[in-house]
Amino acid sequence: MSIKTDEELAKLKVVGKIVRKALDAMAEAVRIGITTAELDQIGADTLAEYGAEAAPPRVYGFPGSVCISVNDEAIHGIPGSRALREGDLVKLDLVAMKDGLFADAAVTVRVGNVSTTADALVRCAEAAFWKAMTVARIGFRTCHIGREVERETRRNGFQVMPGFGGHGVGRTIHEAPSVPNYYDRTCRTKLFDGLVIAVEPIITTGNGQGVLLSDRWTVRTADRSLSAHYEHTIVITKGAPLLLTA
Ligand code: CO
Repeated sequence: MSIKTDEELAKLKVVGKIVRKALDAMAEAVRIGITTAELDQIGADTLAEYGAEAAPPRVYGFPGSVCISVNDEAIHGIPGSRALREGDLVKLDLVAMKDGLFADAAVTVRVGNVSTTADALVRCAEAAFWKAMTVARIGFRTCHIGREVERETRRNGFQVMPGFGGHGVGRTIHEAPSVPNYYDRTCRTKLFDGLVIAVEPIITTGNGQGVLLSDRWTVRTADRSLSAHYEHTIVITKGAPLLLTA
């Protein structure tokens, strides 16, 4: 969406803050032995406490509140009885809605001590996001965001997953424009004041190909490599981007 009124911006800030609180509560609860269903409940409870609701079950019929993906599961993992183990990477991807407005963010959390490679992958997803922020400004196009994400990811020896990337957000979960995590010269949308987008590096230690599991939601890496994910909903402004979910 593009923000037209102060009221819309105020409401988006509210839902963005709630997304942050829910993700922080979940991240804080991550420990060896907790199940992804228990984490999902913490997310749902936090949203309810602030009068918000998980969007994926309402919009897409997702069987959970929060997409929770572990290790080689890249995105859209279904919360369940899986218990986290030392060394896991757990990706928490949460879209909330309140007063008709939506915000989307994701974080990768380390379970106990993780391998050096896993640690580097998590750092790289965050670094790629921040590189993207340097061009999330008027004067650039959506393809420039992808160029920065891909460049930073490759510089660290990792790959993006070309099938999955950022998107417009605000009035629902996925809106135009799409914001790929690689340089796609066809993505020419000029960034303009008030445009709301989710920027979300989804990266792997492997070749970047994904496969859909038989649960018809979870996407895991085809080569079973580790993946990491980092995301915020942002507003393009006349200056630096405004991070709604930080
Ligand atoms: Co998203």
